[in-house]
Amino acid sequence: MTRKGILLAGGTGSRLWPITLGTSKQLLPIYDKPMVYYPISVLMLSGIREIAIITTPDDQPQFQRLLGDGSQWGVSFTWVIQEKPEGLAQAYLLTRDFLDGAPSAMVLGDNIFFGHGLPEILARANAQEAGGTVFGYHVSDPERYGVAAFDADGKVTALVEKPKVPPSSFAITGLYFLDGRAPDLAARIKPSARGELEIVDVLEHYRAEGSLQVERMGRGFAWLDTGTPGSLLDAGNFVRTLQDRQGMQVGSPDEIAYRQGWIDAKGLAERAKVFGKSSYGAHLEGVLKE
Ligand code: G1P
Repeated sequence: MTRKGILLAGGTGSRLWPITLGTSKQLLPIYDKPMVYYPISVLMLSGIREIAIITTPDDQPQFQRLLGDGSQWGVSFTWVIQEKPEGLAQAYLLTRDFLDGAPSAMVLGDNIFFGHGLPEILARANAQEAGGTVFGYHVSDPERYGVAAFDADGKVTALVEKPKVPPSSFAITGLYFLDGRAPDLAARIKPSARGELEIVDVLEHYRAEGSLQVERMGRGFAWLDTGTPGSLLDAGNFVRTLQDRQGMQVGSPDEIAYRQGWIDAKGLAERAKVFGKSSYGAHLEGVLKE
């Protein structure tokens, strides 16, 4: 079955209050684009064209105004409401009907990935039909994330959420490729001490049966944090630095749709027109002229 995408963009964004009292965190700018463009780009780079977008009830109209039905990018969006944020694994319960047994790639709406070779590692994860793939990334503050523990042979022995004493420096990023069993497994887990259905408890099932690949994203990759005002600004500056230097866009669903052949030159030209004189529109004009 073709893999389907899930973009989880719920949550209160409370660590960014007061910025996110009036709008969703995932709609905030990362330099010249809304945050959500970056994770959507990752799903599209993976070749995924059917995507469920999970938001709070309040924020859904804003996301719909920004993203429409997906046809501008040759993809289709299915809109799903999360009444209360009760853990990442809840996303699989909310999308059970949408997935309809298909394998999935779930990305968190505030996770930004960049790196040479990203399309290749995404393709590898996509190709794995049974089991799951997640990505480990070396960070200076693993206690803030889900963390992988490894044995002497580099095999993953456990996954722990926000450990006080991290067993390694490898955080599990917010991108999860799981097979069609994910909703059933999510239905079996119990809320953690912080009252959430934890994604690591779903992943633990795959790990225990030996079907979980933990791909390490090496030095050449950026996995950017957007969880604090400072890291949000840093992420924007990172994107700005790269784009200005290279004259290429990071996280442009329009460009990806065009390069994937999901929209044609006419479609891209229409999009460039929508954005008019903005730098993003100018970039799309440039892609057309290549
Ligand atoms: C969540 C997950 C954690 C993961 C992180 C990635 O944490 O629970 O395992 O490492 O996303 O962004 P949260 O953002 O809910 O603190």
